[in-house]
Parts: sequence; C-alpha cells; structure tokens
Amino acid sequence: MTIKVAVTNQKGGVGKTTTAVNLAASLTKAKRNVLLIDIDPQGNASSAAGIKKNSESSLYEFFNGEEKIESFIIKASGGYDIIPANNNLVAAEKIIEKTENREKYFSTHLKKLPKKYDYILIDCPPSLNLLTINSMEFCRNVLVPVQCEYYALEGLVTLKSTISELNDVLGLKIDIVAILRTMADWRNRLTREVSSQLEKHFKEKVLNTIIPRNVRLAEAPSYGQSIVDYDINSIGAEAFLSLSGEFIRKFENGKKNIA
Ligand SMILES: Nc1ncnc2c1ncn2[C@@H]1O[C@H](COP(=O)(O)OP(=O)(O)O)[C@@H](O)[C@H]1O
Ligand SMILES: [Mg+2]
Repeated sequence: MTIKVAVTNQKGGVGKTTTAVNLAASLTKAKRNVLLIDIDPQGNASSAAGIKKNSESSLYEFFNGEEKIESFIIKASGGYDIIPANNNLVAAEKIIEKTENREKYFSTHLKKLPKKYDYILIDCPPSLNLLTINSMEFCRNVLVPVQCEYYALEGLVTLKSTISELNDVLGLKIDIVAILRTMADWRNRLTREVSSQLEKHFKEKVLNTIIPRNVRLAEAPSYGQSIVDYDINSIGAEAFLSLSGEFIRKFENGKKNIA
C-alpha cells in the first residue's frame, strides 16, 4: 500500500521543496521505500537530490514517449528514488490542458508506477496550475508547508476553497491532511501569533512537528544533500526526523487515504 502526498502551496519560498526532499530522506532513514516526483520546472528538488539541472528526463518525456515509467526513476543522493524535473515540464502543462479529463491526467497515466513504494511525495510548483491540480488529485493527500507570517493564513484559506471547489465541481477527493509550520523563529512575535491562529483554525490538521529556521537546511541543497546526510546533528535534521516519525504514526496507523 502506498501513501501518496502532494506538497503544495501556491506561494513560493514557503519551504515546499525543503520539506519534500528532507521528508523523503528522513522516511528513507526510517527504512521506508520512497519515491519523490519533482514537477516544478525549476527543478529545485532535483538539484537538492544531487541531480544536475536539466540533465535528466522528467514526467514530460515519459508522457510523450513509449518508454516504461521505470526508466525515468533514478536514485537521489538521500537514498530514495526520484523522477526529476526539467524545463520541459512547462510544456507538459500545455499538453495536459488540451486533453479530456485533464485534471485526472496523472491518475490515468501514472497507474503503472511500481507498487513497492511506501510513500510517493510530489514537490509542486508555486502555483495552482494543472500540474499541481493533477498532483493533488493523484495523491488525494495534501501537505501544506506554511511560513508563519502575516499572509500565511490568507493563502491557506484560498487553497482550501480552491480545493473545495475542485472537489465539488469535478467530484474529486482532495484533502488537506497536514499543515506544516516551517522556518519558525520563536523569538519572532508573528511566528507565535500565526502559529496559534493556525492551530485555532485548522486544529488537528496542524502537525505537531515545527521546522525551525536553520541555516543548515538552506545550505544542504547547494551540496546536493538532504539535511540528514549534510548535518545529522543540526536542529533542522532533528526536526525532519521527528516529522518523518509523526508522518509514520499519522498515516500508517491512521490509514488515511491509502491507495
Ligand atoms: N527551515 C528553514 N530554515 C532556513 N532556510 C530555509 C528553511 N526552509 C527553507 N529554507 C530556504 O528558503 C528558501 C525557500 O525554500 P523552498 O523549500 O525552496 O521553498 P518553496 O519550494 O516553497 O519555494 C530556500 O532558499 C531554502 O533553502
Ligand atoms: Mg520549490
């Protein structure tokens, strides 16, 4: 059984990619079999996984060719599997746009992904475009990283209502299952305020684990490494290991939207 999670927030710079790659690596450390799919044409998750920019095929080439999905899966430095992103993903969106059932393109075309994975994570681009909608529809579970700042709540409310609309109009079953506070700095009053507002509005959806602002997390990608390989003793690594533990408890025991 595979637990699929789309890491989504239409806002850029909130920690989606940092969350996707480090959660993938931490779950791998916990002996889980993980596939990360990078669908952001910028390819930040791919670089952070030690892959040279635009050097590998992406889902675009898979969708437009005859080769099996397995030949698009490579190893990330963190030990997990990855389908990298490249610039062509911009065109993938245009192609999907013209198809019937365009919101379900991923579900239709990714049926043959290997069954061996415990987790499939998708790192989404900073927009609610068709690739993001397809990722959410395919995974059903959405993890939203939020930076504890003034507009965070507003962005979340927008995302929540977009998802409700998609579910109502198209009969989809997308669910925000987890909200992750990132780049938290407890000396900052806004962090504390926004954090408690999130808890008030989104209750048990707000994960207990909080990712602190930690320079080691920002440095790791430039070495193509995840935080658990780059600096296992950092507070960033500690937070992501605790996040993987919380994930395992929440999903594997809670049996939430497992395909
Ligand atoms: N907890 C953190 N502490 C310090 N820097 C962080 C943290 N999380 C993310 N960053 C940095 O902030 C920037 C944006 O994060 P990123 O994960 O790329 O966001 P997104 O994918 O949502 O655009 C990156 O430079 C990243 O290294
Ligand atoms: Mg990103």
